[in-house]
Amino acid sequence: MWHKVEEGLIPLLDYFSKQVKELDLQEIFQRFTFDSICGLVLDYDPRSLSIDLPYIPCEKAFTDTEEALLYRHILPESIWKLQKWLQVGKEKKLTKASDVFDQFIYSCISAKREELSKLEVLQKQDEDLNLLTAYMKAYKDESGSSGDPSKFLRDTFLSLMIAGRDTTSTGLTWFFYLLSKNPLVEAKILEEIKTKLQPKDDGKWNSFDALELRKLVYLHGALCESLRLFPPVALEHKAPIEDDILPSGHQVAENTKIVLSFYSMGRMETIWGEDCLEFKPERWISEQGGIKHEPSFKFTAFNA
Ligand code: HEM
Repeated sequence: MWHKVEEGLIPLLDYFSKQVKELDLQEIFQRFTFDSICGLVLDYDPRSLSIDLPYIPCEKAFTDTEEALLYRHILPESIWKLQKWLQVGKEKKLTKASDVFDQFIYSCISAKREELSKLEVLQKQDEDLNLLTAYMKAYKDESGSSGDPSKFLRDTFLSLMIAGRDTTSTGLTWFFYLLSKNPLVEAKILEEIKTKLQPKDDGKWNSFDALELRKLVYLHGALCESLRLFPPVALEHKAPIEDDILPSGHQVAENTKIVLSFYSMGRMETIWGEDCLEFKPERWISEQGGIKHEPSFKFTAFNA
């Protein structure tokens, strides 16, 4: 990720600011997280984060997929199933997006497997330990067969790509939106970075790791606050597999879908107090000056 920031994100932002050109920050963050997650999961860099903003079908297929899935929550099941059968509307786009994912992921998997079989011949496979090899081993151990793991790998990787791409890019987009509306918070964050991470004399950042980032308590608070007001996963649903009673005493019949709105929960006075609509990173800072822990049932951005 650090490499992507230095080699992709910063040069691109520099370029656009020097050209005094407008850019869509959400699109830039989506490209940033897409490249990062592809690197992590597929060991492949699609370089979508370049100055010419190349069109990469797989990168765009996420948006069509998520829109179609959101509509499935709104439309009656019979309607979206009919649309799927007739191949019209958002369901048509979903089928197309699925084909695009297949093409992209399967070609990455087969290129990687080819590379691995060459290493196997050279008996150097252990040197190339990555997510793909780890999952292939897991598949072999679990199924006990030498069957083709392609479909399993495709599903697993697509899941991870969806989990990692839009959550982080949406989180970053709202965070910078909130900073643009709250210049005092921005100033405090910059001050904290300057005093605690000490940039080099030329003003550039030293690379820092996760451990050093822990010093930035105010920044951490601001990120939590942004995730509270704009949780990237805005809703979630659960259904009991048999009749059940909730801790509140409500009876729930088997298969009843319960929709939890994390977005609304982040803005409830009964949960966060009268100032619940304000962007206040201080809310997250304890009396001792550390980050205040909130239980996952209260701060639901990462599910409970
Ligand atoms: C701001 C960033 C993120 C947010 C807000 C977020 C939020 C969530 C939420 C709400 C869930 C529960 C979904 C459900 O149960 O239906 C979840 C699950 C998951 N997330 Fe994230 N996530 C973020 C970043 C990431 C990243 C970067 C990755 C991986 C690269 C990731 C991997 C996963 C995985 C694998 C699960 C499934 C866990 C399980 O089934 O037990 N997430 N995330």
